[in-house]
Amino acid sequence: MPLNNGLYITSTYFWDCFCIALCTILQGKDFYPGIRRFFYFHQKKGMKKLLKWTGIILGSLVLGVVIVVWLMQYKTFDAAYPDIRASTDSSIVARGKYLVMGPAHCTACHFNPDSMAFYNDTGKVILSGGTKFVLPIGTIQSPNLTSDKETGIGNLSDMQIARALRYGVGHDGRALFDFMPFQNLSDDDLTALISFLRTLPPVKNKVTVRNLNLLGYGVKAFLIKPVGPSAVPAKSVKADTTAEYGEYIANNVSNCRGCHTNRDLMTGAYTGKFYAGGFHMEGATDPEHYECVTPNLTPDPKTGHIYGWSEDVFLQRLHAGRRIEQSAMAWEQFSRLKDNDIKAIYKYLQTLAPVENNTGPILVKIEK
Ligand code: HEC
Ligand code: HEC
Repeated sequence: MPLNNGLYITSTYFWDCFCIALCTILQGKDFYPGIRRFFYFHQKKGMKKLLKWTGIILGSLVLGVVIVVWLMQYKTFDAAYPDIRASTDSSIVARGKYLVMGPAHCTACHFNPDSMAFYNDTGKVILSGGTKFVLPIGTIQSPNLTSDKETGIGNLSDMQIARALRYGVGHDGRALFDFMPFQNLSDDDLTALISFLRTLPPVKNKVTVRNLNLLGYGVKAFLIKPVGPSAVPAKSVKADTTAEYGEYIANNVSNCRGCHTNRDLMTGAYTGKFYAGGFHMEGATDPEHYECVTPNLTPDPKTGHIYGWSEDVFLQRLHAGRRIEQSAMAWEQFSRLKDNDIKAIYKYLQTLAPVENNTGPILVKIEK
């Protein structure tokens, strides 16, 4: 027979909250039954008072944490507005279009899943958002980048967009989840991107960008901070076939490094050596049953995936595009890279220190 009913319910409730909070922090439900058993044990012994006070103290703690987490959701950050203004110069807009649809692969994330028209080069680039990212912290959807004033970026200034991309601070001051590693883009490339976005006709598509779960609120409260550039970004980076330009494209524009390095899915922090691969990414069209593991792109003779590839083989491979349907790599975009950009990336990858890291099969069927 439970203790007096009110206390029973209250303390059970607090215990449940506490257990859930603890399990969330410890990232496993395995502890839950044990903690519950402890509670029932004490209940049997009739330790009413202890129970009551433990309940009250833990309850207050949980409530405190909940309030802090809730308040932190509204935390805003300051960052300078880069002095970037969109241009209507056709060569700048053309550079922007190339970046958006190619190396910077904005189209890979900001497309509208209901319309695949972004592959079509004849001027119809739909960037009205809504692509879903299902993560342990909840579901995040890409916002609408068309010039629609209500649901797109039509009401944001050039400098607000530039600040979001360079400093990871959203238009409303909140920290953006670190999906977009464009912090080190040159002023000229940032200008080009925004100039092209301004040419997109308005498309009405209201997107709920963040749909976080309990864990997501916790992560957002304590772990997500705006990510800014690692050095003062260059005013201009000249396109070339050198390893230096390859490094700029691979690390700052195309994010080859972001996927070809192992990371913590919860926070995005790097856990592996750069370019040594091994990052598990869920299948692009069937995430329930498949995942892909990024190959090691360092020139390691034993485990380097592209070890022994000539520049020409690398070039042909990138242009050939997607071969594995479940691949998370933005092949539709990267296959559009100009030859010189691909050659520069190849040169850069050859300069990396070899890292021995056998990443196993690329496509993995998830056993349930
Ligand atoms: C890997 C996926 C991905 C890529 C690539 C990507 N985005 Fe995003 N973008 C997102 C997600 C997800 C958000 C929402 C993040 C958030 O609100 O925390 C976002 C948010 C934005 C925002 C809104 C910022 C604000 O103030 O709220 C802009 C503007 C933007 N992206 C522009 C771009 C441009 C331009 C590119 C290409 C250079 C690009 N994105 C490439 C996923 C991506
Ligand atoms: C969004 C994540 C992501 C990004 C960004 C990314 N890759 Fe990949 N890459 C993958 C995954 C996953 C695979 C394994 C599946 C496949 O082969 O498509 C892969 C495979 C490859 C392969 C092996 C292809 C083959 O057929 O053997 C090469 C080469 C490669 N990537 C190069 C690059 C380069 C160069 C860049 C930057 C321009 C890049 N990747 C950016 C995720 C990514």
